[in-house]
Amino acid sequence: MEKIMVTGGSKLQGTVKAHGSKNAILPLISASILASRNQVSIRNVPTGLEDVTTITQLLQSLGIHVDMSDDMVTIHAEKFDSTEAPYELVCKMRASVTVLGPLLARKKYARVPLPGGCAIGSRPIDQHLKGLEALGAEFKIGHGYVEGFVPTQLRGNNVYLDIPSVGATQNILMAATLAKGVTTIVNAACEPEIQDLANFLNQMGARIEGAGTPFITIEGVDFLRGTDYSVIPDRIEVGTYMIAAAITRGDVFIEQAKSKHLTSLIVKMREMGVTVLECENGIHVSGPDEIKPIDIKTLPYPGFPTDLQSPIMVLQLAANGTSMLTETVFEDRFMHVEEFRRMGANIKINGQTALIEGNHPLSGTQVMATDLRAGAALVLAGLIAEGTTEVRELRHIDRGYIDLVGNLKSLGAKIERTKLESNPFLQQESLS
Ligand code: UD1
Repeated sequence: MEKIMVTGGSKLQGTVKAHGSKNAILPLISASILASRNQVSIRNVPTGLEDVTTITQLLQSLGIHVDMSDDMVTIHAEKFDSTEAPYELVCKMRASVTVLGPLLARKKYARVPLPGGCAIGSRPIDQHLKGLEALGAEFKIGHGYVEGFVPTQLRGNNVYLDIPSVGATQNILMAATLAKGVTTIVNAACEPEIQDLANFLNQMGARIEGAGTPFITIEGVDFLRGTDYSVIPDRIEVGTYMIAAAITRGDVFIEQAKSKHLTSLIVKMREMGVTVLECENGIHVSGPDEIKPIDIKTLPYPGFPTDLQSPIMVLQLAANGTSMLTETVFEDRFMHVEEFRRMGANIKINGQTALIEGNHPLSGTQVMATDLRAGAALVLAGLIAEGTTEVRELRHIDRGYIDLVGNLKSLGAKIERTKLESNPFLQQESLS
């Protein structure tokens, strides 16, 4: 077990490079199941991330050959036999459920464990199933599994999503590429990761229009073939470094960041007084002497991303006044607030809204990452806290950030990743 030790007070300065998007790559790897001819090569892949390992292991468990080298994943899905996703992998990562649509389209059968809840609230898959049913799939749910069949053939249909779910849009989009006829997804998620998936599928021979808008049209084709594709940069990783620069009143260039994917964050940061320059090959952020308080509400894209809710809270903690932060996407995504309070933060929660008192001094202590983005947010809080903050439960951070510690260190942060020394007293206790 390891921990991150971060000592506050350094201004971050320099350049970091954005990696490929975790949330884009996971469905691309699932979508590779659809390629019945030729291999798929995906470039710019953060192969060191735990979630990427999980999804590739999931494909391997189906009998699909996967090679990983540097920043590339090669997938040979021309032939494979298994259609059952193992519980051990699905329970680690909810995005595993994106194999459901491709398996039904390719094999007419799939058995996938229900993903269950997680640290940010209950996360049902009713919209995934409703959309796939509209295309002709039938489901049985029992014993913690969802079992899907396609009795004849998937057929295009109109699908209306009650919620613009990212995962449901991806599952339905992937299945519809091999359905007979035309599918329309209405109230589709508009996230850049959806556009990236559609671009990837179109390069494989699919006929998709409208991805990135709430209306997506898919004309089914007989088969898809492998392709060579480079994934988009990770907007949440970029956002995390932008906030790190601002809270430390630093000056950081994030190379390869795409500013058009981060408009909501950029506008909000500018309103807080942060200088953000949108350059051709990245984003430049300089923190102001005085950060202004501001109210923020998370929303589906192009609204403010829920995945940056906990990191932006640190910028609000550094602001000169009181801010509000309302979470509308997930029901229980304020778990990190208790940890911020341990650091001295003054935050009140009323339902889905947090009232954050800015400029209240934070002090370093031991804190625990409760989920992936909350873990990164605690590291950010450590950058501005007095003394040293010890962040534990790094497995969450490792799911989605490549070398967060190395990157922050290269920008001048006083930060280390070390072994969590065992406490002999606690060891003796657990033996008794
Ligand atoms: C994806 C992202 C995650 C991000 C989220 C919202 C990946 C791997 N993960 O997750 O980082 O925080 O989008 O931007 O890309 N819902 C239902 N029924 C469903 C599906 C979803 O009620 O069938 C609800 C969820 O409980 C949640 C909301 O819809 O409250 C949004 O979830 P969704 O967009 O599906 O998120 P994910 O695809 O799981």
